Amino acid sequence: MTSDKEILITGASGMLGSKVSSVLAEKGFQILAVFDSNEKFVPDGKNVKKTHLDITGEINPNRFKNTHTIIHCAAITDVNFCELNKPFCREVNVAGTKNLINLAKSLNAQFIYISTPMVFSGRKGNYSENDETGPLNYYGKTKSQAEKAVLKYGKGLVVRVNPIGKRPLGAHPSFMQWFMDTASSNRSFSLFTDVVINPVSTATLADFLSKIIDKFKPGILHLGSRDRVNKAEIWEEVLELFPDYSGTVTRLSVDKTRDGKAASRPHEMWLNVDKAVGLGYSLPSWKEEVRIVLNEILNRK
Ligand SMILES: NC(=O)c1ccc[n+]([C@@H]2O[C@H](COP(=O)([O-])OP(=O)(O)OC[C@H]3O[C@@H](n4cnc5c(N)ncnc54)[C@H](OP(=O)(O)O)[C@@H]3O)[C@@H](O)[C@H]2O)c1
Repeated sequence: MTSDKEILITGASGMLGSKVSSVLAEKGFQILAVFDSNEKFVPDGKNVKKTHLDITGEINPNRFKNTHTIIHCAAITDVNFCELNKPFCREVNVAGTKNLINLAKSLNAQFIYISTPMVFSGRKGNYSENDETGPLNYYGKTKSQAEKAVLKYGKGLVVRVNPIGKRPLGAHPSFMQWFMDTASSNRSFSLFTDVVINPVSTATLADFLSKIIDKFKPGILHLGSRDRVNKAEIWEEVLELFPDYSGTVTRLSVDKTRDGKAASRPHEMWLNVDKAVGLGYSLPSWKEEVRIVLNEILNRK
């Protein structure tokens, strides 16, 4: 679908929303790219119109009359920050999502909500769309509450995913950027050895989203690589680019990062993607996705 109808993308200044905005714009979609504080991180482009919106405030639907689909990528994503700032996190992640659902209702728009495997406890992994949620931390709780509100809306789709990518230059680095930076500057650090994911790059996810817009079906959909990976193996992949790295890597359980205040983190965060395969999505391997992101990061430097 490449029509005059606009796709409203929240979080267009963030890691995922910025990529989704630029990829969909390149495909010919008209993008209304929403930022809150960081207009400078929203990509420029022929089909991109930037607009400020604080999703926790009142939203005037007249501003968005041409919107056909909302892709909601905005959230407070810092898991420890959420644990320490619960009311603020709830306001953005839950109340903000409900405000956008009301907007979608008044426009009769499709609503695609980007969610996370952190809605699960991470005790077993291989979570399917029908599994009960049971978040360990406050961030996961807010994402789970927001999902429930999305699913009550007849035109709501929850997409759970572990996106990997790069944040715009000057923004807080993504974990892939942080790995690259650590390796290239020879820094020592502690590496978690017990967090398992099936990641998908923001570029691949943006491509999947372009298909979802056209074949929209409400409900829940898990997207990810077809195989799973321990985050420590991603570090090994990064190290292949830096054979002279001589820092010290202390291998730890993610549970050891808890100092009493930090959030609990799930271990087995990999999603069952059989439904996506059945729907015809050609899912990549984790190595393909990691390489896409490494190339993106290298090209920018
Ligand atoms: N990153 C991950 O590892 C991960 C994993 C699983 C799922 N997810 C989900 O994927 C989505 C995207 O994550 P991300 O890492 O790309 O996010 P991010 O880089 O942390 O960006 C967050 C975005 O939310 C926007 N935002 C925050 N408060 C807002 C408000 N009150 N009104 C409007 N916009 C607001 C920010 O806008 P400004 O900067 O302009 O203020 C920014 O664009 C999120 O829903 C997240 O839960 C992420």
